[in-house]
Amino acid sequence: MEIIRADRSGFCFGVQRAIDLTMEQIEKNEKGEKRPLYTCGPLIHNRSVTGALEEKGVGMIQNIEEASEGDVVIIRSHGEPESFYRTAAEKGVALVDSTCVFVTKIHDIVHKAHAEEKGIIIVGNPEHQEVIATNGWCDYRGYILQSREDAEALIRNHPELFQTGRKPVIVCQTTFKVEILEEILGVFKDKNCEYELYNTICSATRERQDACRELAKKVELMVVIGDRHSSNSRKLFEIAKENCKNSILIQDISDLQLKQAAKYNKIGITAGASTPEWIIKEVIASMSENVTNTTEKNPMLDFMDD
Ligand code: F3S
Repeated sequence: MEIIRADRSGFCFGVQRAIDLTMEQIEKNEKGEKRPLYTCGPLIHNRSVTGALEEKGVGMIQNIEEASEGDVVIIRSHGEPESFYRTAAEKGVALVDSTCVFVTKIHDIVHKAHAEEKGIIIVGNPEHQEVIATNGWCDYRGYILQSREDAEALIRNHPELFQTGRKPVIVCQTTFKVEILEEILGVFKDKNCEYELYNTICSATRERQDACRELAKKVELMVVIGDRHSSNSRKLFEIAKENCKNSILIQDISDLQLKQAAKYNKIGITAGASTPEWIIKEVIASMSENVTNTTEKNPMLDFMDD
């Protein structure tokens, strides 16, 4: 059996930074600082990582309103709306900002465009935290689109958006599929609707998607490792399925039926940007058969090392 790992897979720069900043805070507490430490929502979309953080004493709140004076709240890589920072300051809550720098760049674009009274179009999933937070940097005035149909409806229902003399600004969720963005832009071009585009799809996402597509074309089975709540992992799975009919999405080794996988000679592996290295290695090791099972290891120690 040949197992090939995609050229680009696993933790991206932004997720690694969020983990590093969180580990720094955990270490400070272990050295005696002992300040209540929380993330607002899951730090990353991976149940193994969030479970390990909980064991290290990192609590989770769902809203900044739940935090109290003296608490330390870690902002995850997806970012938070402008109001979140104001509320934290009013309540005396300390923030550790692990918003990915590429996401901060989107907030800056949207904030500036809003101040210049330009229309704002956010291409992305309206329920995704990153998109919700981005919209919070333009007073929630952004138009959120995630399909060609949404773009057609926007032109139909808000023609004035393209008639103000100021082109609307388009930004995109960092993990969005580039093909859908192109379809949406195609709708605007066909209707001669002018816009100012900032293609903010992250290169880490693009690289993972391209590497997944190329590998999926060459293998008999494509295994995507990632949490089902992770948007970028689900998109990798979609791309894998489009290019390899035998594609599966697993969260970790416990989801993989090794006997089924053994039927294939050439297997491709990829992983979402929020999948820790130890989970990827464990899947590869178990499939390779020649490496001992690693489930006895302390996963938290492993992912701190990577
Ligand atoms: Fe940042 Fe890109 Fe990762 S936006 S969080 S480096 S996918």
